[in-house]
Amino acid sequence: MSKPAIETGSTDNASTDTASADSTSTATRRARTAKDPKNPKAAKDRHPEEPAHTPEYVLEARDVSKHFTVRGALGRTTVVHAVEDATVRLKPGQILALVGESGSGKTTLARMLARFHEPTSGEIVLRGEAVSRSGRARRGYHSEVQLIFQDPFGSLNPMHRVRYNLDRALRLHHRHLTAAEREERTTQLLERVSLTPAAEFAAKFPHELSGGQRQRVVIARALAVEPKVLLGDEPISMLDVSIRLEMLNLLQRLRTEDGLALLYITHDIASARYLCDDIAVMYAGQMVESGPKEAVIASPQHPYTKLLIESSPDPERGVGDREAFFAGADELGEPPSLIDPPTGCRFHPRCPFAMKECGEQAPPRAELGDGHWAKCWLHARGRAGELADTTHAAATAARREALQGAS
Ligand SMILES: Nc1ncnc2c1ncn2[C@@H]1O[C@H](COP(=O)(O)OP(=O)(O)O)[C@@H](O)[C@H]1O
Ligand code: SF4
Ligand SMILES: [Mg+2]
Repeated sequence: MSKPAIETGSTDNASTDTASADSTSTATRRARTAKDPKNPKAAKDRHPEEPAHTPEYVLEARDVSKHFTVRGALGRTTVVHAVEDATVRLKPGQILALVGESGSGKTTLARMLARFHEPTSGEIVLRGEAVSRSGRARRGYHSEVQLIFQDPFGSLNPMHRVRYNLDRALRLHHRHLTAAEREERTTQLLERVSLTPAAEFAAKFPHELSGGQRQRVVIARALAVEPKVLLGDEPISMLDVSIRLEMLNLLQRLRTEDGLALLYITHDIASARYLCDDIAVMYAGQMVESGPKEAVIASPQHPYTKLLIESSPDPERGVGDREAFFAGADELGEPPSLIDPPTGCRFHPRCPFAMKECGEQAPPRAELGDGHWAKCWLHARGRAGELADTTHAAATAARREALQGAS
């Protein structure tokens, strides 16, 4: 008996705290393209028994937290609250940028999504089903979800040629392929990431490649598995500035051609602005704002997002200058200690808009329409307009002056 086709039925009622935008975004349109039966790739990939309707989200982290217990020099244990109640949801074909300073919990969240860390609480949900903790289930999971690390050198086996590195992934995840078929796939994969002539690159050792070429091999290896989701943990940050745009364009192409969902993790808002559909902002282990890229960038509704955006170079001032395009990403300093995070809103010690309640109580989430939300007391207190009327620097200077006047 055939089941009714439901194209975008929502499966999520477990959480109201979503980091992903729910608007009919580019991602949704692309997802439809990827599922289009006229799209040969999509039709080819669908299992004959796979129901016509699929969950709206391919991968979710629902209210996940990760606490690390660390033993100090004197044997005292402390707990690092690396991620706290974070929710991220990815649709097929969506590129969601996860932005935030170094130390804000982005890698920890990605590692939970990749199942390299088990969450302390909350759950990881793949195509509508909570994932099992067994090792056996893990291999199946990794055939759908692949993590690309920051350091391409560290993630390839330096003792083996590119051919071996790719062949190993093919052997592990596509056991039915013959050696000749794997060789053919290796060639196709290298061509896919523009490493041509493929035979030449297949014969090289990782140390014989440039950083950009190595990261292309890492991406090719991830694609060998034919995943549905790529988690890119700062995949371009260790690459030469001159090739970063090429890598972003490659990622963009993969989602367009394959309908891959991509979580693009970065501390650099300029590259997020270039690549993504939606942005989620993390501060000190928590999600503070999320929504469609245009809305978040043009009108940030959390003071921390505003600070990130104003510290980042504006591509309108010269996308041609690649140095400038990626400059400024490291200028924000360190977020607070996650061993003893600030009470209330974790941003309050640095926030020029902070009020009494900010240090006492976590701010409620304000829904701003079209999937855009922010967690900041300014919204509950009717003061959100102040964000648009000033810059972070001007607000900080005014706050400093007011404090000096009061003392
Ligand atoms: N394995 C670990 N053990 C203890 N603390 C960790 C571990 N991994 C990450 N952390 C801590 O968790 C916090 C978040 O780190 P991370 O997720 O790497 O942030 P980001 O990727 O945003 O830079 C940091 O304070 C970091 O020191
Ligand atoms: S809740 Fe308060 S401290 Fe936090 S960002 Fe908003 S105004 Fe600033
Ligand atoms: Mg990181």
